[in-house]
Amino acid sequence: MQSNTFSGLFEGQNVITLQRTPSTNEFLKKELSKSTPLAEGTVIMAVDQYAGRGQKDAIWHSEPGKNLTFSLLLTPTFLNPKHQFHLTVAISLAVAQWLEALLKTPVKIKWPNDIYIGDKKIGGILIENILAGKTWKSAIVGIGINVNQTVFPDPISKQVTSIKQILHNDSNIPKLLAELCNHIGHAYQALKKESFDTLLATYRKRLYRFGETHPFLVDGVKVTGALAGVTEAGRLQIDFEGHVVDFDIKEIAFVI
Ligand code: BTN
Repeated sequence: MQSNTFSGLFEGQNVITLQRTPSTNEFLKKELSKSTPLAEGTVIMAVDQYAGRGQKDAIWHSEPGKNLTFSLLLTPTFLNPKHQFHLTVAISLAVAQWLEALLKTPVKIKWPNDIYIGDKKIGGILIENILAGKTWKSAIVGIGINVNQTVFPDPISKQVTSIKQILHNDSNIPKLLAELCNHIGHAYQALKKESFDTLLATYRKRLYRFGETHPFLVDGVKVTGALAGVTEAGRLQIDFEGHVVDFDIKEIAFVI
């Protein structure tokens, strides 16, 4: 374990780099259950995350030493726990905007928070909120970005991309981590001040397949509709020939 600091918005942001761990989200969760409190802004980065987790119980694959796989600790007590989606919007926009500036190519957010370039996934976010009754204790923001990996296993090989596949050169992972965390720090501060309506409008514009008609799987059944938007609570709105229905993440899947 190696400990370092960033000079960012979080005072003396602590960065703990682990050589090998199953999942940085799990590591951070275990640390939080110990008596010594961790400071907001703490980052756990893994060189080799060998059992990474994604949304809907998916596995997050990452070749050792090649990618960004980290978890950031936040304590968003200023947000009502009913507004967990606000954090998802702020974080996914920060990641997408940072990546777009780096790659100089359009980056989209596949609802709710997958990061896409064209029809390929370059990054994923897993936010796990820890609440005590009606109060927010902490949020574990797990982020995986494909950086220097160019070969991916089946069945994901044709569905994913990486920074290297776009820029055609290797990137310095600790430098990217510092830049991305700084970007997220700004977005997090802005979330405290900005109106959520403005943020949500920006998020909607960045949605993958926004306004387009495509097939989706609803409870396993293929249906076709136009992606009309997202509600304030974070439900995906699909327009079926003028009839708009909204869904949560367990109810609908994209067909790509
Ligand atoms: C998804 O695409 O469904 C989300 C993927 C999130 C992956 C990151 S990598 C760092 C952190 N630790 C994990 O186990 N998962 C997240």
